[in-house]
Amino acid sequence: MNVRDSELICGILKNAGYKICASDKEADIIIFNTCSVRQHAEDRVWSLIGSYKGSKIIGLAGCMAQNYKERAFQRDANISFVAGPQDIYKIPEILGKLSSGEFFERKIWEVDSSQRPEEIYHTGFFQDKSHAYVVISEGCSNFCSYCVVPYVRGPLRHRKNKNILMEIQEAIAGGISKITLLGQNVNAYHEDGVNFTKLLTQVNALEGLKELGFFTSHPKDANIELFQAINDLGKLSKTLHLPLQSGADRILKLMNRGYSVKEYLALIDSYRKIVKNGLLTTDIIVGFPSETDKEFKETCGLIKKIGFNAAYIFKYSPRSGTVAAKLADLLTKEEKEGRHKKILDLQRRISNKLRAKHKYAKA
Ligand code: 5AD
Ligand code: SF4
Repeated sequence: MNVRDSELICGILKNAGYKICASDKEADIIIFNTCSVRQHAEDRVWSLIGSYKGSKIIGLAGCMAQNYKERAFQRDANISFVAGPQDIYKIPEILGKLSSGEFFERKIWEVDSSQRPEEIYHTGFFQDKSHAYVVISEGCSNFCSYCVVPYVRGPLRHRKNKNILMEIQEAIAGGISKITLLGQNVNAYHEDGVNFTKLLTQVNALEGLKELGFFTSHPKDANIELFQAINDLGKLSKTLHLPLQSGADRILKLMNRGYSVKEYLALIDSYRKIVKNGLLTTDIIVGFPSETDKEFKETCGLIKKIGFNAAYIFKYSPRSGTVAAKLADLLTKEEKEGRHKKILDLQRRISNKLRAKHKYAKA
């Protein structure tokens, strides 16, 4: 999502006459497009911003901008402007004000918009010559208890079907042959009678397109119709990223995920029956507040049983303002790190084994 948002920023700035530099040394303006999903991501940005001294205009954009608002200026006085994810379209105007000297203090923050104007998706700027990311929905209304996204990116909004198709056709006309559809929860997409499977079918039919993919899906909105589309649509990659987060029902409930282990397993079962040799990947959080050793072992047992081709495994990171941040987080740093390492090792073994099997099957 942030890769695409950075392209949107580059696109509008290019159209406004700015030049994108190959290296930060040449640049007069440096914009950090940021993520707030875990503390680690934020720490890295603060340390990077701290490494620039003086002469450049520094902008903080994206989720951290929304999170910190004007507090960002107290955190680092080098920052000249702050623009939240829904306000990135204002960056050329902000830079105009800053360079006109109208703002003597050189501090501007824009974090109040709830919607992006459609035009920012149509500047034609894609970093990759053949592969484009296309946003189909913005924000998220799921409120998983650990997650900051609904607070910083706002409620789920679906882009208009015709606008998505137009953006993809523009990309294809510019030489793109592979598209990845993006959203926090793509399979909840519906707009004017078009649901996610119908959208996939429409995109699959576009002439000139060779490959199609999407992420991320939410288990509570995944269904047989989607699996059938993955199997049937010729350009669609036979892979599904379906975040599990935990293999223990009590933790899933505390996380507000909206499904049980049994329901998740039933989904995987029908995915595998419908999509022959389909790949399966997931996200896992370890060390959620109050997660017991037994519950952690249940997660390990489940990832062994399912056999994901790959998993992104994260240590729980408390995010202020979320429901989980109010739960007592009694696990020590060492316990979280120990669980993280154990499950990473386990998943590495599973992935290697499946990769070898896949190679053998292909040969
Ligand atoms: N701590 C750790 N991991 C998190 N994720 C989201 N919020 C947090 C958090 N507070 C993970 C989830 C999600 C992925 C994008 O990031 O696993 O699926
Ligand atoms: Fe966050 Fe849950 Fe929405 Fe994913 S579905 S962005 S984890 S609130």
